[in-house]
Amino acid sequence: MTADKKSVLAILGSPHKNGKTAAMMDIAIRRAEEKGYMVTEINLYEKNISFCIGCRSCMDTKICTQKDDIQEIAKHLRECQIVFLAAPVYWANVPAPVKNLFDRLLGTAMEETGTFPKPRLPGKKYMILTSCNTPFPFSWIFGQSRRAIRNMDEFFRTAGMKPIGKVVYAGAAAEKKMPKQVARKIERCLK
Ligand SMILES: Cc1cc2nc3c(=O)[nH]c(=O)nc-3n(C[C@H](O)[C@H](O)[C@H](O)COP(=O)(O)O)c2cc1C
Repeated sequence: MTADKKSVLAILGSPHKNGKTAAMMDIAIRRAEEKGYMVTEINLYEKNISFCIGCRSCMDTKICTQKDDIQEIAKHLRECQIVFLAAPVYWANVPAPVKNLFDRLLGTAMEETGTFPKPRLPGKKYMILTSCNTPFPFSWIFGQSRRAIRNMDEFFRTAGMKPIGKVVYAGAAAEKKMPKQVARKIERCLK
C-alpha cells in the first residue's frame, strides 16, 4: 500500500473467515470499494506475530524490534487513512491475537512523555466492528460488547485516531442472516 488519501487497512481479528464478524467486515470492505478506497486486507489469524515481550524498545524505534509480520502491519497502519478492525467478543474483551496486536504496536501508536502519552498516528480514522452471542440490550448492560469496544477504542484513541463508527452485531448466534439494520449501520459509517 502506498501513502494514499483514500486507503483503508481492514484487519480481521476472528478465526472464522466465514463467520459473523467476517460478514460485517465484508460489508465494510464492499462499501469502501464502492466509495473508491483502496483496501488492504489483513487476516490476523494468518499472520505470524509473536507475543510482546515488554522490552519497550519500540518507544525509541517507533516499531517493534522483533522481526515478524508486525513490521508489515505497522507499515500499512502508517500509510493508510482509515483502519477497519473487526473482532468478535471473547470474554467481554477482544480475542488474544487482537490484544497482542495492540501490545506489539505500542511504540508505533504512542510516545511516552512522562505525563500523558503523545499520539503517533494523528489524523487517521477507524471503525470498529464486533459480534457477540449475548443479545441486545444485555450485550451492552452487562458490558460484553461495551468492554470489547472500550479496549479497541483505547488503542486507537491513544494513537490519536478518530472514530467513524462502532457497530455491534449482538445475539449473533441466534441469527441465520445478519439483520439489515446492522448492515445499514456499517454502510452509513463510510460517507
Ligand atoms: C472464547 C470465546 C469467548 C466468548 N466470549 C463471549 C462473551 O464474553 N460474550 C458474548 O456475548 N459472546 C462471547 N463469545 C461468542 C462470540 O463473541 C460470538 O459467537 C461471535 O459472534 C463469534 O464471531 P465469529 O463468527 O467471527 O467467530 C465467545 C466466543 C468464544 C469462542
